[in-house]
Amino acid sequence: MSMLTLAQAKEILPKHTTEQHLFVHAAAVSAAMGAMAEHFGEDKAYWEAIGYLHDVDFEKFPQEHCHHVRELLNNEPVDEEDMENIIAHGYGICTEEVQPSSNLQKSLFAVDELTGIIHAYSLMRPEGMEGMEVKSLKKKFKDKKFAAKCNREIIKNGVADLGMDLGDVMACCIKGMTEHKAELV
Ligand SMILES: [Fe+2]
Repeated sequence: MSMLTLAQAKEILPKHTTEQHLFVHAAAVSAAMGAMAEHFGEDKAYWEAIGYLHDVDFEKFPQEHCHHVRELLNNEPVDEEDMENIIAHGYGICTEEVQPSSNLQKSLFAVDELTGIIHAYSLMRPEGMEGMEVKSLKKKFKDKKFAAKCNREIIKNGVADLGMDLGDVMACCIKGMTEHKAELV
């Protein structure tokens, strides 16, 4: 039984991360994962914790992302399932270690890049996250020049692996991120 909590994740991440935009990304993915957990009727608090900690090795090891999760979390209250849940989000991108197989792992894979597009869109809206609609987000998604670093193919593959519609995943992410909008600026 995995017991990592969001409070623990928030204590661990600053040990390995200094850049503010990475904390905003952690909060965005955590918020999106909470809403995905609600969608699946699963453990919201746990999904939020994994979402918050998922890029724990990125700042120190950008070229070896997901390969240093185990060593950084070795002395933390993180068990094997937590490790695999984190490592799986890099599958086929920077690691072949864990193929996403659960709803949690597939959700993390799908929302990681998508939250980047949503966050970028919120920053250019006067009302921020408030009132964001899936329809207008889809236009930003289709505009390859908008938030160009967010890989659309990865998102599409993740959404297909979940067996969901892109719009439904977007709606979940918008909902979660709107609830946590204060942490996303
Ligand atoms: Fe990420």
